[in-house]
Amino acid sequence: MLLQKVEKGELLTYVDLCSAEFKHSSHEMYKEIRIHHPVCPVQFYLNKNAWLFTRYEDAMQMLKDPRISKDYHTASVEDEGEELLVAAGFEESEYLFNHMLNADPPNHTRLRAVSQKAFTPKAIARLEEKIRHIADDLLNKVELKQTINLVDDYSFPLPIIVICDLLGIPKEDRDKFRKWSNAIIDSSEDPEQIAENAILLKEFLEYLRAITAQKRQEPQEDLISTLIFAEEDGQRLNEKEIYSTLMLLIVAGHETTVNLITNTVLALLQHPDQFQLLKDNPSLLDSAIDESLRFYSPVELATERWASEAMTIHGQDIQKGDPIIVSIAAANRDERMFDNPDIFDITRKNNRHLSFGSGIHFCLGAMLAKLEAKIAVQTLINRFPSMQLAEKEVEWRGNYLMRGLEKLELHL
Ligand code: HEM
Repeated sequence: MLLQKVEKGELLTYVDLCSAEFKHSSHEMYKEIRIHHPVCPVQFYLNKNAWLFTRYEDAMQMLKDPRISKDYHTASVEDEGEELLVAAGFEESEYLFNHMLNADPPNHTRLRAVSQKAFTPKAIARLEEKIRHIADDLLNKVELKQTINLVDDYSFPLPIIVICDLLGIPKEDRDKFRKWSNAIIDSSEDPEQIAENAILLKEFLEYLRAITAQKRQEPQEDLISTLIFAEEDGQRLNEKEIYSTLMLLIVAGHETTVNLITNTVLALLQHPDQFQLLKDNPSLLDSAIDESLRFYSPVELATERWASEAMTIHGQDIQKGDPIIVSIAAANRDERMFDNPDIFDITRKNNRHLSFGSGIHFCLGAMLAKLEAKIAVQTLINRFPSMQLAEKEVEWRGNYLMRGLEKLELHL
């Protein structure tokens, strides 16, 4: 996604919002955009023009406004990303993308209600012991090492084990998910990459078909069985909705949490005073996780939305069908909302960050994600209280939606 660089209020050359380079300096640029261009023109995927929102109040409004649609049919727009996949040989995208995050009410309400049955506070609390075991097991494997890559050794496997466990996916299949979910979140416009993604998506859908068929024959106490048999208003999910919901839960349930765990450890080690404060006051863990969510938002941009009718915001005319992009990361550093927004402060009060979104699409897994991150960070600190960053510079992954690291090397 291309954004015109802003200096002293002037829009200059284009920069790529998804690039790793941009992620290093994004907050300086967002600050300028918040001041001078509250409704900022950007060139989105496939050179479409879109509007970027960076102020907290506006971001909140765009996430909650019923005139802003998540279903491209409602906004009467073409999904060109889907068309490219079809052209590359993957013709069944409606079997993977027919989920709640791409739906408006009443469809959204029905799809969300079925999955919500598995995400009650009680059901999440029951996972606590299991997550502790997983965290301990992973750290047992590395405790004799001097240096680890936190992502590969800990942050990546932990959420994938949890979500696979919740869904009822066998252990031996877990490793396949990394390449499948990378293909889903990839926003490349390179034809070779799109063709490769199309093959991976076919594989992923075949896998979902097979495992769903198996659970239909022999239901278990797991989320896949719940999705197959749960009824909402006397209706069950159809095949397309089941596979799409599974895809959403797998991708949303782990890519994001990997980043939250890694980014929290990074932020703490980059701010030794805050790290010490947390070690001296473990009761600050909840607020440290919230501050990490705000400071290094794992989901940098909310997913694409469209104006379902014409409107004017801050004097800017927006046409029906125009894409709307909300920068969660920029809203979370808005000086109108947060005091000293660029300071990482684990004692911050009233931290009403937007990292899990807002409105009807508020993250279904927020409670689970926080629990996983709390246990992961606490266990790591308890086991390795003197850990340190092995390298001063880190490299953010170039990705449209997420803020995360490919690797984080730590001296234990
Ligand atoms: C939606 C963030 C973990 C499931 C969202 C949205 C955000 C978000 C920002 C709204 C997107 C939008 O409106 O465009 C995060 C972050 C996580 C996390 C930062 C971890 C740190 C999880 C987990 C699960 C999950 C663990 C499930 C296992 C979902 C689902 C939705 C969603 C199903 C769609 C809700 C709807 O459309 O009603 N998440 N998420 N997320 N998230 Fe998460």
